[in-house]
Amino acid sequence: MYSSDLFDGRVALVTGGAGGIGRAVCLALAQCGARVVAADLAAAMGPAHAAIEPVSLDVTDSGAIRACVDHVVARHSRLDILVNVAGVVSFGSAAALSEQEWDRVIDINLKGTFLCCQAVLPLMRRAGFGRIINMGSVLAKNGGNPRPWINPQEQDRASNIAYGVSKAGIGAITAYLAKETAACGITVNTVAPGPVASDMTTSFPDALRELIPVGRLGCADEIASAVLFLASPQSSFITGETLDVNGGLFVD
Ligand SMILES: NC(=O)c1ccc[n+]([C@@H]2O[C@H](COP(=O)([O-])OP(=O)(O)OC[C@H]3O[C@@H](n4cnc5c(N)ncnc54)[C@H](O)[C@@H]3O)[C@@H](O)[C@H]2O)c1
Repeated sequence: MYSSDLFDGRVALVTGGAGGIGRAVCLALAQCGARVVAADLAAAMGPAHAAIEPVSLDVTDSGAIRACVDHVVARHSRLDILVNVAGVVSFGSAAALSEQEWDRVIDINLKGTFLCCQAVLPLMRRAGFGRIINMGSVLAKNGGNPRPWINPQEQDRASNIAYGVSKAGIGAITAYLAKETAACGITVNTVAPGPVASDMTTSFPDALRELIPVGRLGCADEIASAVLFLASPQSSFITGETLDVNGGLFVD
């Protein structure tokens, strides 16, 4: 689908690179010629491919992020593409959400995304080129899945308000950084998946699957395809955009 030399000479850092979507993104980039550093928590190391190097990273730790970026540059002398995939889901009603859980989700999903962007931007500015792709969610736009008028218990197994807020904030980071960096050859975009079959969605209620017009969950490769497009030279005039990849679940 994408040519095998599309990213020849390019170096990519993918956070959350051991997860369902992250693995697919790493493999797709590597199969198209990029050298890829797949960063994830030590406990969840990732994909096997000669061009993919797994490294340990907690995206809530700014010092560790700087060290990771330094490692990429020391090893490859450049960093062209950042894909911020690391994230956690969180379930339950607004009434049940604890302050600690709010902080955990915002720290990983939102602050982690910003800190990684902040760490790579000086390099990209100096190079006069960069591609940043953040991972949003349909839940940033559609108000999530609470349907207490149908089934008050359903929300216990569906994403909560902290998750949607973290992903909406990622849209704001994308829009802001796109403008701040546009004149430097850098594009910043978000891919916003709908429900994708992965560890994150195994517990989703069937009733929520039935709301997807294409009649199925997405697959990680379909999210990776969107990332490849936004990382490619062909998307050079697209920045600040959120690309919905959700099977028609939410259309705007
Ligand atoms: N699966 C879906 O339906 C879906 C839908 C919309 C958006 N998303 C988003 O896509 C991204 C990937 O989701 P997935 O389905 O592959 O989930 P996943 O759970 O398979 O992968 C997430 C990865 O992030 C890593 N991670 C968590 N905390 C981290 C931290 N502090 N530092 C570094 N890495 C950390 C995990 O170890 C895991 O490997 C997430 O940001 C998620 O919010 C997923």
